[in-house]
Amino acid sequence: MENLRIGIVGLGHVGLVSAAGFAELGFPVVGTDKDMTKLARIREGKAPFYEPGLDELLQKHTAGGRLTVVETLAELAEQADVIFICVGTPSRPDGSADLSQVEGVVRELAQYISGYKLLVEKSTVPVETARWIKRTVQRYARKDATIEVASNPEFLREGSAVKDFLEPDRIVIGVDNGRARELLLQIYAPIEAPKLVVDIETAEIIKHASNAFLAMKISFINMVADLCERTGADVTQVAEGMGLDPRIGRAFLGAGLGYGGSCFPKDVKAFYWIGQNYGLDFSLLRAVHEINERRVDVFMEHLHDALWVLREKTLAVWGLAFKPGTDDLREAPSLKVIRRLLEEGAHLRLHDPHAMEAMKAHYPEDPPRIVYAATPEDAAEGADAILLVTEWPIYQKVDFVALRKRVRTPVVVDGRNALDVERVTGAGFEYYGMGRPFRAPRR
Ligand SMILES: NC(=O)c1ccc[n+]([C@@H]2O[C@H](COP(=O)([O-])OP(=O)(O)OC[C@H]3O[C@@H](n4cnc5c(N)ncnc54)[C@H](O)[C@@H]3O)[C@@H](O)[C@H]2O)c1
Repeated sequence: MENLRIGIVGLGHVGLVSAAGFAELGFPVVGTDKDMTKLARIREGKAPFYEPGLDELLQKHTAGGRLTVVETLAELAEQADVIFICVGTPSRPDGSADLSQVEGVVRELAQYISGYKLLVEKSTVPVETARWIKRTVQRYARKDATIEVASNPEFLREGSAVKDFLEPDRIVIGVDNGRARELLLQIYAPIEAPKLVVDIETAEIIKHASNAFLAMKISFINMVADLCERTGADVTQVAEGMGLDPRIGRAFLGAGLGYGGSCFPKDVKAFYWIGQNYGLDFSLLRAVHEINERRVDVFMEHLHDALWVLREKTLAVWGLAFKPGTDDLREAPSLKVIRRLLEEGAHLRLHDPHAMEAMKAHYPEDPPRIVYAATPEDAAEGADAILLVTEWPIYQKVDFVALRKRVRTPVVVDGRNALDVERVTGAGFEYYGMGRPFRAPRR
């Protein structure tokens, strides 16, 4: 097919980056979302969320006309040849994936499609979702339509999503016929990366297995961190010693407050659920989830070790986003930490380089016990302790010697083991990390 036109359904963190990315690769792209305020922003070339480099790409390609948005699936079906489905796949209360957004989009799209179209699932979905998509398509498609289905899971990371999309470490293409294979290989031809062409079920499992494995690494090191605390060892050095083995690797061996975000928590649960559903013992993933759930408890224990009672104490919270580089608060450990601190009667001074507006939406009343600070130093003003929750690089650059004069008591609880212990204790602060010994101030 000459001059392929690409359609994107769901212009969220994955869909909008993909839309901008495909436009950057030279394809005409049309996108849609059910959220009209998002569409209005995107039309102006602005991303509805913070993602480095995304605004620049959007401005370039919306102004240049290569990226357009439409309000309905009918228009999208008319204008696109290959349609990527990038809608949400959240958890249901039992942990399984809620596929109602995917199903709804497929059912509606099928009614508008005539001629040939390729539907590609890019959202993270449980294995066998494509089979259901095919059945749905067969049931609702018009007689003049030929609709094929493929899987192309997305591996981008929020905070470096644009770069990850354009320079991925692999592209996984799940197909069951030659035409879908050729179309997807044509689309990704401009990108130099290993391209793994597999059957659709394999592609679906690659994505779930990858996220579950990364989450497992985090929970593994957090399990080890608890042992380090009991025995006086330092988990950061344990991780370093383990990570030097190339079979293990240092990445994702950061002990701390655990994983959050819109992917790992839900994908671990969904992968566990699908295993159970097939009568398999996936209890390893239950343990991964349970270890992660306890991380906030461990963090709170350290805070109590430091301050005993929290009522009427002032606490600086550094970092709110679920990880650095984003303003995304979905399943962010900060939400649990803040709730616990408020329940215990503390006064909070919050700082985050990008996620403070998003946090205000969680506390719209702006309770008098929460203050939003413009800088990390401002957040620490009069504080009984500084709590590092998200490891933005800005916190590593703070001048702790100067900060010592602004806090009420010099205590740091580092939930990510991100600060330089020597600098912090050298400036006169007590240091509590995660899975490493308490360090007294050195002056
Ligand atoms: N966020 C990530 O880092 C990431 C990375 C890889 C994969 N994924 C997966 O990609 C999928 C999307 O994740 P996300 O973070 O982009 O979610 P998101 O919530 O940011 O975006 C989903 C978008 O779909 C839209 N939508 C829902 N129903 C729709 C409909 N019927 N028609 C049109 N639009 C509709 C929503 O309004 C929203 O804008 C999920 O399956 C997720 O697991 C996410």
